[in-house]
Amino acid sequence: MTVYLIDLFCGAGGFSEGARQAGAVVAVAVDCWDVALDVHKKHHPGAVHMLRTIGDVPPEQFAQELITALPENYREGIDWLHVHASPPCQQVSKARRNRCDVSDTISLVRYVLDLIDCISYNSFSIEEVDHHSIRELYDSEGIPWAVIDMSKHGVPQTRKRLFAFDGWNPYKLKASNPPKLTELLVAPDTAVYVTSSSLCPGRMQGWARGEYKGGYKRGFHISKPKLVHTCKLFYTVTSAPFFYYDGDFSFIGGVGLEELEQLQTFPIGYITQNATTHRRMLIANAVPPKMAWHIIKTVKG
Ligand SMILES: C[S@@+](CC[C@H](N)C(=O)[O-])C[C@H]1O[C@@H](n2cnc3c(N)ncnc32)[C@H](O)[C@@H]1O
Repeated sequence: MTVYLIDLFCGAGGFSEGARQAGAVVAVAVDCWDVALDVHKKHHPGAVHMLRTIGDVPPEQFAQELITALPENYREGIDWLHVHASPPCQQVSKARRNRCDVSDTISLVRYVLDLIDCISYNSFSIEEVDHHSIRELYDSEGIPWAVIDMSKHGVPQTRKRLFAFDGWNPYKLKASNPPKLTELLVAPDTAVYVTSSSLCPGRMQGWARGEYKGGYKRGFHISKPKLVHTCKLFYTVTSAPFFYYDGDFSFIGGVGLEELEQLQTFPIGYITQNATTHRRMLIANAVPPKMAWHIIKTVKG
């Protein structure tokens, strides 16, 4: 049995990359962002790539297009078809302050459910940020879901995501320890400060002098610097840059793109030819390939 993958909202291909490494054939990949699709194409040249806005035609029509795009050697009933979707989650992400209006995200997830329903799949996974409205949607549709802690499956981050699923069992995912941060980060010490861009070097000095207590100052949100011990997990990788500071809040340097790739479990140099901001976004957006690897291994049984 060969596992074939339809990857919706494929991005640069975090899910596809893990699926490929687990032995699946990446058959069809869809995204509306040409930059992401170009990176995906480079690593999965055998797949059919569709530059499309998902949701702009009735689900039955798009499902038909996806089925038609499957390779000729795919044998329904003999091979296994896995459909994965990672609808964009900005509206429901904790990183965004205005999380009130989640209607666009919910309608897109609902569309994905309708779309998948029109495909004779063997299994599917939908990855989203864990938000009560999405859980409620799944509950109302009778779709099983689970919150997966990726650090339990080899990803060296505090990343947790809500997965809707069918045809595989998230509770059967194999446990595996993530690599140690000391193996991945070029950290100068056993404990370093790693923070987001909102904490510029000047502001860090302010923290050191005890000038900030957190909260709002002149309309700007001042987040507390976060201490990460390199013997523990890294935070969830986001598109914001992360910096190192020493114990006196002196700036040491930034967490490099290759380090971010490793924290997301991408092969080093997976995304090389893009502008830095795009690279950060593509890396941060991804399902860590290691997570996808575990899912496809579980699907294969
Ligand atoms: C969370 S990222 C997906 C990451 C991907 N699963 C991976 O593992 O690398 C969401 C992607 O959806 C794309 N996107 C957003 N809205 C879309 C739409 N309506 N149709 C197609 N793609 C969309 C974005 O360009 C982005 O690449």
